[in-house]
Amino acid sequence: MLIAGNWKMHKGPGETAGFCAGLLERIGELGADELAGVDIVVAPAFVSLHAAVEELEESGIRVYAQNVHWAEEGAFTGEVSRSMLIASGVAGAIVGHSERRLYFGEADDTAALRAAAALEAGLDVIACVGETLEEREHDETEDVLRHQVGALAEAIPEPTPALAVAYEPVWAIGTGKTATPEMAHEAHALIKSIYPVERVLYGGSVKPENAEELLSQDDVDGALVGGASLEVDSFTAICETAARLTRS
Ligand code: PGA
Repeated sequence: MLIAGNWKMHKGPGETAGFCAGLLERIGELGADELAGVDIVVAPAFVSLHAAVEELEESGIRVYAQNVHWAEEGAFTGEVSRSMLIASGVAGAIVGHSERRLYFGEADDTAALRAAAALEAGLDVIACVGETLEEREHDETEDVLRHQVGALAEAIPEPTPALAVAYEPVWAIGTGKTATPEMAHEAHALIKSIYPVERVLYGGSVKPENAEELLSQDDVDGALVGGASLEVDSFTAICETAARLTRS
């Protein structure tokens, strides 16, 4: 299983270093075996990547960026390239997050371009998909997912284990609402039927209290966690749940 913390626009370098030190301390107390079988990722803001990479070096916890551009370099104000991330010790990137889509004009094709370029450079990728509330209410979830995942499949015809898809119903992000385990199961199965990606993560208000019922669904291979990834205790608790389910 893969548990990734998406910190969004939280935690500067100092807070990032403090969180990472706290996380390592907590894992040390638990004993590494307690979390065996779980790949743990944190995704800080660009300016905090260096602090996370330094602090987590050789811990096995990997650091992802929250976005990546497809070009090698050029006049793309505000963007960061694959080689810049790799030179900073970053292992992967999230692409196509719904907040990028909603506020910054990210589209299916640009998200797919980012994913393909990052994979080609050797970065791992979490590519986000998911329907809005309006789309779900209009029974459009399947069409939306087919379109979003189809764009990924077109850009990356052979899915690789380095690519995970995150199913994040937009109405469940940061709202405290979660998809029911059945909704998550259905959407994940649909995604895998469209595109045989190894891991589909669920995202949208995952917290310690609901991690078990979501992560125990067939075809749910991990979680992309926003709010609950900002505190060491809640993030570690979700990782422990994932590890326990992996063992059972
Ligand atoms: P949330 O965010 O857990 O705070 O809902 C998830 C995400 O946006 O990745």
